[in-house]
This record gives sequence, C-alpha cells and structure tokens, in this order.
Amino acid sequence: MTESQPGAAARKLWGGRFSRPTDALVDELNASITFDRRLARHDIMGSIAHVRMLARQAIIPAADAERIEQGLRQILGEILRGEHEFRPADEDIHLSVERRLHEIIGPAAGRLHTARSRNDQVALDFRLWTREALLQIAAGLNDTIAALLEIAARHPDAIMPGYTHVQRAQPVLLAHHMLAYVEMLFRDLDRLRDAYRRVNLSPLGAGALAGVTYPIDRAYVAEVLGFDGVCTNSLDAVSDRDFVVDLLSACALIMLHLSRLAEEIVLWSSSEFGFIELDDAFATGSSIMPQKKNPDVAELIRGKTGRVYGHLLGMLTVGKGLPLAYNKDLQEDKEGAFDTVDTVVLILRVLPPMLRTTRFRTERMLTAAGEGFTLATDVADHLVRQGLPFREAHEIVGRVVAYCVAEGKDLPDLTPEEWGRFSPILVATPPPLTPADAIAAREMLGGTGAREVAKARTRAAAAHDEWVRWVNERAAALAAVSRRLGLEDTDDGVAGGGGDRVR
Ligand code: ARG
Repeated sequence: MTESQPGAAARKLWGGRFSRPTDALVDELNASITFDRRLARHDIMGSIAHVRMLARQAIIPAADAERIEQGLRQILGEILRGEHEFRPADEDIHLSVERRLHEIIGPAAGRLHTARSRNDQVALDFRLWTREALLQIAAGLNDTIAALLEIAARHPDAIMPGYTHVQRAQPVLLAHHMLAYVEMLFRDLDRLRDAYRRVNLSPLGAGALAGVTYPIDRAYVAEVLGFDGVCTNSLDAVSDRDFVVDLLSACALIMLHLSRLAEEIVLWSSSEFGFIELDDAFATGSSIMPQKKNPDVAELIRGKTGRVYGHLLGMLTVGKGLPLAYNKDLQEDKEGAFDTVDTVVLILRVLPPMLRTTRFRTERMLTAAGEGFTLATDVADHLVRQGLPFREAHEIVGRVVAYCVAEGKDLPDLTPEEWGRFSPILVATPPPLTPADAIAAREMLGGTGAREVAKARTRAAAAHDEWVRWVNERAAALAAVSRRLGLEDTDDGVAGGGGDRVR
C-alpha cells in the first residue's frame, strides 16, 4: 500500500478502483476472517515459498524477499502468541497477513503479491490444510484400529451371538466381530490416502484464473512445499474443490462405520444385552435417575454423523453449477470442512480409550450365543453331511424348532427320543449343539473359526503397521517442509481440533 491512498477507514488492499467504502453489511457478509484465520500458518507457508521463488527467478529484489520472509515469520509468531489483531476490515486471512506485513516492513510488502492472486493463494492454503487434516484423521483411525485389535487379542476365543435383523443368528467370535470393523477402517484409510494423493498438488501459479505473466517456477514452489507436483490447468486449479469433497466423503464413510460400532456399544451396554460395561470415565449419569449409566459417547458418535453428512452435502451443493473459474461461492468451502475435521478428530481421540477400558462380559456373550436356536443351521448342515439335500434338512430342522418353541425347550434340551421323531439320523449321529461346535466348523478363509481368526489378526496387525508407517512418513515429510521454511515448532494443530488456538 502506498502513502498516496485515501483515508485509512475506507482503505482496502484492492481499494484503488473504488471511490466509496463498502457498506458495513457487505463487509460482514463478505468477510471470511472469522473462520479462515485458521489457515494463517498455511497462508504464511505458501507466501514464504512464493517469495523465495520470486527472488530466485529475479522477479523481485532478493533484499525485499528477505525482508518479506522475516516479516511473515514474525507475523506467524504474533498469531501463535495471540498478539495478531484479526480485524473484520481485513476481510480474509490473506489480506490480514498482508496488511500486517505492510505495517512491519513498509512498501516492500507490496511485492509479495506479484504473480499471485488470492484465488490461487486460497486454493493453496486449503490444500495445505486438507493434507494435514487427512493425516490427522488417518492417525486417529490407526489408533482406533489398534484398540480394536487389542480387544481381539485379549479375547481370542470369546464367543458371542452373531446377528441378522438384530435376531440371534449364528455364533461368532468376538474377535471376528472386532476385525469386521478393522476391515472397514482399513478401507477408510485407503480412501484418505487416495484423497491425499489428489490433494497434494500445488495450484500456485494459476494466478486469478489464466496463469501469470512472470517467469515463475511452479515446480520449485511445489517442491519447497512438499507437493508431489502441480495442478496443470490454471482454470481448474483455482475453481474446483473436489479435494474438499474427497475429504468430506471419506469422513462421511468413517462416520458411517463408527456410528455402526457406536450403535452396538449402545445396545451391548443395555441391561437387555449386558455384553459390555463401559468404564466410568466414558459414561455419564442422569440428573434424575440415580441408577443410570448412559453411553453418551457412543450416542454422540452416532448423532454427530448427521452433521458430517450435512457438510458433505453442503460442499457438493456449493460446487454444483459453478461456472469456471473462481466464484465467491467457493469461500463457503471452509467452515463445513473445519467442523467435520474437528468432529472426526475428537471422536477418534475419545473412541480408542473408551474401547480400551470397556469390560467385555464374555460369559454372558457365550450364554446368549447358545440360546435361541443359533445352532439350527449347523444341525441342518449335519443332516446334509449324512446325505440329505439341504432343503429337506432345512425343513426338518424347522419342524424341530417349531416343536421346541411349542414345548418351551431349546435344542440342547431335546432327548434322543425327541430327536428321533424328526429324523433317525439325529439319533444315530448326534448333531452339533454347542457354540464352540459352530465356531470350529467354520475354519475357512473369512470365517469365524478360531484358527482363521488368529490368522486374520496377524494379517491385520501387519497391515496396521504399514498404515502407521505411511502416516509417520508423510508427517515427517510435512515436518521437513516446516523446517525448510524456517517454521519449525509452529505446528499449532490447526488442521484438526486446534482452530481456537489461532486467535
Ligand atoms: N476469502 C476468499 C475465499 O475463501 C479468498 C479468495 C478471494 N478471491 C476473490 N477473488 N475475492 O475464497
């Protein structure tokens, strides 16, 4: 900003063309500073990389670039210490940082925005933020998977009823049940990695929409910032937010999966099931009913799935029908994404310790696994092994069950004489009747046999190690970027959960 510009109140960094200040309500509607200040660190990272490139390409004097870089570093320090003033009149984080830079270093600050637009700048900032968010969520999934694997390892042989339609169906191992969630979360990790691959490209250099007229080096900027490459069409680079949809849709599926687990925790902790007891630290009481111990954490996981789905639909709707290239609608990409990541990250911090402290009442599970004719399929299979067609066997066992229901008996209560009324085979060769029989009969790939489940645990543990390695490698790469930019120790956790720390 030069000294020749008009009065401070009306002055905007883009004010040259305007003779009257904007209406105060327009400022209020237009401003994103209340929420995009969360991108402060990312904005400064991008600006440092950009200004280094400008000097390297001799587009601006090296001495000015040095002053700009020092100034930017000072501003980030001020922001992290809570000293920076985020003024509504700053409009957005980009202008807020630039305004402060002018205050600190004077007219040289005006060179920072050479060969750049807020359009490619904000796309850059949000990509930097998104990749951190993806890693943070992946780390949370890794911890959740570890907790599920610990439960499976602690109870390798515990048998519970498996359900269809919430009706007891066939016995399964508790470990097998836990590993089902592990499989879902592995796929979620895969989606995050996929999203990471697509987001990790630099849009900088796209300018406002058409590219820029200076001899910039896009690849250098991308490399400094740890990107895998650059966005290769300037119009696309500034105007599409599918990387946000990738993040939000991955989060929606994570919440879908976690809400299923949460629902089971709610059911299992009821006295009707009585399969688990939550630790006091992860349950809540009632203000009127002294006996209550409620699974609020699980209910909130289930409930918060709604807002995550909502943000996904919101982002899809914002992007829909937007003509190329940048439109201010795109400013609506941030709040839903911030809330989604805050929600998912918090849940992924609470869930693992809750799982680790939950007590599994395996005796009750075993008892329930043997009740309610859960061995009926196994009895039919037994008849098939003795030569009957499956449909005939199914019919016979169906009649056995109807008899038991009428007599108030369960399958193990029947005498040989009673079995004999339905088929002589069932007297000559007694059918399997215990949950352990049912488990032992299913030693096949993907089945609930104890040996197979032990193998599945080993496979899952190896896959988990791989995912931990992936996250750690990526996190180390991002830490190296911060070091390269002289911003080590400035990780404020902004990507997830730390939004309020940047004030
Ligand atoms: N605050 C804006 C956003 O979040 C930054 C880009 C502004 N660009 C513009 N041409 N007004 O999208």
